[in-house]
Amino acid sequence: MKIITSVAEMQEWSSAERSAGNSVGFVPTMGALHEGHAKLFSESVTRNQRTVVSIFVNSLQFDDASDLEAYPRQLEQDCVIAERENVHVLFVPNHKEMYPDGFTSIISTGSIASHMEGLHRPGHFDGVATVVVKLLNAVAPTVSYFGEKDFQQVAVIRQVVRDLNIPCEIASVTTVRDKSGLALSSRNMRLTAEHLGQAPQIFILLSQIAEQCRTHETSSAAMKNRFNTELPAVTAATVEYVEIVDSNTLRPAQIATNGTTICVAVWFGDVRLIDNVSI
Ligand code: PAF
Repeated sequence: MKIITSVAEMQEWSSAERSAGNSVGFVPTMGALHEGHAKLFSESVTRNQRTVVSIFVNSLQFDDASDLEAYPRQLEQDCVIAERENVHVLFVPNHKEMYPDGFTSIISTGSIASHMEGLHRPGHFDGVATVVVKLLNAVAPTVSYFGEKDFQQVAVIRQVVRDLNIPCEIASVTTVRDKSGLALSSRNMRLTAEHLGQAPQIFILLSQIAEQCRTHETSSAAMKNRFNTELPAVTAATVEYVEIVDSNTLRPAQIATNGTTICVAVWFGDVRLIDNVSI
């Protein structure tokens, strides 16, 4: 596995691969890799001649300095996982390479990013969009892979790529869960043992609500109320938001029915988890 740290070398490598007729699959990450990432890598390796993974903890998308500080960093372990998954290039630029002195341009993501994560983490999606566009310009992939756990992120990136005519397919990959149903996330390692035992209730309750909506069309308000009441009754979690949105447009839906998705963010202590289930 080749390690590249500069944008110029990344662009050169990718351009040579594309000229040789090879498709390039790309998975952007912030490191602290787990089996959820590994699934994205293997999807890319199966579908493309070359796979690039980037590791860059993007300060621009953190609205909270302590969250940025606490974000796990484990490059050595990450290299082992990427090697194991047959990744060809690990792109690991440093902060100065991505945001050199004099950097000022930030992408404004607009209405698709104005609720849920965008509302509760001001500036988050502008930071995500900016770094993803910079990474896509560095790697110039044929297709880029994102996990569906970050449901709104996938929608925002599709919108940006469409709006800015970036010639790259955006592929989404289903959420990987542990056997309890908890969605894999780099943040799970910061949960206390007690909270780790309770966190699977998020998916259990979401699945029950989705099932209820599949069999009995019901109002979103009633289902949001059910989540807001039942999760804190069986765990120590605080619900930050629960929204039911159209799965394509992400506009809030009045009725929780087929074609909508329930998206939630909850706190266990100082750890924030997100998840979603489509009805
Ligand atoms: O999903 C993530 O890990 C990040 O938001 C991403 C897409 C790598 C951008 O920093």
